[in-house]
Amino acid sequence: MSKHNTLLVTGGAGFIGSNFIRYYLKNHPDHQIINLDLLTYAGNLSTVAEVANLPNYRFVHGDIRDAQLVDQLMTEVEKVVHFAAETHVDRSIMEPALFLETNIIGTQVLLDAALRHDIKQFHHISTDEVFGALSLDTDEKFDEHTPYNPHSPYSASKAASDHLVRAYGDTYGLPYTLSNCSNNYGEYHFPEKMIPLAITNLMDEQKVPVYGDGLYVRDWLYVQDHAQGIDLILQHGQIGETYLFGGLYKDINNLELIKMILKIMNKDESYIEHVLDRPGHDRRYSVDFSETSRKLGWQPSLELEEGLRKTIAWYQTHQDWWRPLKEKNQSYFTKQYKNRK
Ligand code: NAD
Ligand code: TYD
Repeated sequence: MSKHNTLLVTGGAGFIGSNFIRYYLKNHPDHQIINLDLLTYAGNLSTVAEVANLPNYRFVHGDIRDAQLVDQLMTEVEKVVHFAAETHVDRSIMEPALFLETNIIGTQVLLDAALRHDIKQFHHISTDEVFGALSLDTDEKFDEHTPYNPHSPYSASKAASDHLVRAYGDTYGLPYTLSNCSNNYGEYHFPEKMIPLAITNLMDEQKVPVYGDGLYVRDWLYVQDHAQGIDLILQHGQIGETYLFGGLYKDINNLELIKMILKIMNKDESYIEHVLDRPGHDRRYSVDFSETSRKLGWQPSLELEEGLRKTIAWYQTHQDWWRPLKEKNQSYFTKQYKNRK
């Protein structure tokens, strides 16, 4: 592989990384991707099976904290897109240390190697959760100037990694770009997260666990729209800039979201089960992505209901993908949901 037009993608066997790789190779068949992924519980080669045999794609099984391996891979690429992370808030409450090691130390190892090898662009994938929580009784939204105020070990570790990326830009001149995106949904979403958990539970006639009063608000973006946004940053992004991605113009709370899913799946509201709340649960996220739209000419392409229909249909036809994952992670589900009623 030549270095020109070659990307190192970290965490490309996970949900968003794999969607990005499939999107990117479809749209840039003459570019190359090296996918570095540790294949944790959240990483799965079946998510990238579609591209596995392409001559311009290579999978490397390894850890972003492995400085020697990362250093070697950086010699082969022009740009980096860094997705790899521990990502589930509930798991971060159970086991914060792993989140700090992967999300902070892992990022620092990549940044050091990127500097050593004159990487042209280091694109860091982050979340809107670093901004903390908005209140239900305002119309306020997060934007590029919102100060960081994370509340969960997950969001605190992502905030730390964002700060490191910017610090490497300011201190050493690392050419970085960064994007904070809202909650994604779509195909290959690990079934521990709210939307795929709801869909797969309902397919098995099981109830949907709704934390607390269910009046928590998230912004939802269809994952392929996120992939398109990242691609635009790689093509047209300004070094040193931050971009915000979100999917909605109007708030929707968790109960309304679940009711939308129930309706599409022809189920009644008796499938909703209120369970004990998540500690430190952020009340509301909402993203003003107008500046990013203006700068990149990017817009979410799917309405939430349309995206949910598409996603539900995908889970119905891909049971061979999610059933083994749910089965294998039974001990997590038991630990997370037992004694929560
Ligand atoms: P995911 O949990 O589905 O996938 C994470 C991937 O990283 C997995 O394939 C895993 O094997 C890999 N990984 C974990 N530790 C690793 C290590 N030490 N070395 C190499 N690979 C490792 O996550 P996702 O939902 O696809 O999120 C990807 C990125 O996007 C994360 O940085 C996350 O913070 C960010 N993000 C996610 C969302 C969302 O809604 N899911 C929203 C905004 C931002
Ligand atoms: P999640 O998919 O875990 O994403 P995040 O916490 O990163 O936003 O959760 C989305 C919302 O759904 C959040 O408000 C927590 C809530 N939730 C439940 O009510 N029940 C559940 O079983 C899960 C996993 C989440």
